[in-house]
Amino acid sequence: MSSHPPSADKIPAHVAIIMDGNGRWARARGKPRHAGHRAGVESVRRVIEACGNRGVKVLSLFAFSSENWQRPETEVKMLMELFFTALNREIRRLVRSNVRLRIIGDLSAFSDKLQALIREGERVTAENDGLLLQVFANYGGRWDITQAARQLATRVQAGMLDPADIDEHCFASVLAFAGVPDPDLLIRTAGEQRISNFMLWQCAYTELYFTEVLWPDFDEAALDAALADYAGRQRRFGRVPGPETN
Ligand code: IPE
Ligand code: IPE
Ligand code: MG
Repeated sequence: MSSHPPSADKIPAHVAIIMDGNGRWARARGKPRHAGHRAGVESVRRVIEACGNRGVKVLSLFAFSSENWQRPETEVKMLMELFFTALNREIRRLVRSNVRLRIIGDLSAFSDKLQALIREGERVTAENDGLLLQVFANYGGRWDITQAARQLATRVQAGMLDPADIDEHCFASVLAFAGVPDPDLLIRTAGEQRISNFMLWQCAYTELYFTEVLWPDFDEAALDAALADYAGRQRRFGRVPGPETN
């Protein structure tokens, strides 16, 4: 599978990835699941660099869903530790690479130590103007929509907002990463063809791409295959094709 990155005008501005298949990658090697998660961190580093080089503006990575708490306690604990050590180790590289980091999700469930590191990572990269890297942790699309509804209800109750003024634009303004354009391309690795509660609102018109490649094996060639597929898509947003796309 050798694909070259498409020309700059066909590169999606915002790429989102559901990074799946760490467990299966480990099992195929007779290793414990945590070995798969560790190998997955290497893929994250590779993909951040590759997306930056290809001119992607925003990269959104689904790292831990609201539902992932239901995994065995030992795996959850391991994932939290890995999140901490990987972030701690990578912050300097992100600063050097001009990447701006944002962590999105209900962070209140994390330890104080992890929350402090997240704040630190966001603070020291805040002035960077290269790739915007959004890592979704304890995130769920339904959580996001619910917290947005709660904010608007609070404003209505306080007499600051007329319910008649709640339109799509108003609603989107209180979602977790308001102001960032919706993803153009959503990639899910490891063969499953579902959204698993990722960006439910924001993916309304996103192009979906599913690959069998397991996340720890997702390399530049796999990314370029996804980008090449995207470059061949015709996005219509409900309209009829224009003369140039007939
Ligand atoms: C994705 O890999 C990582 C997380 C969801 C944290 P999985 O751990 O879901 O891997 P599989 O799906 O069991 O292979
Ligand atoms: C989705 O993967 C969540 C992340 C990648 C963080 P899962 O492995 O949790 O999804 P399901 O359970 O197969 O739908
Ligand atoms: Mg999975």
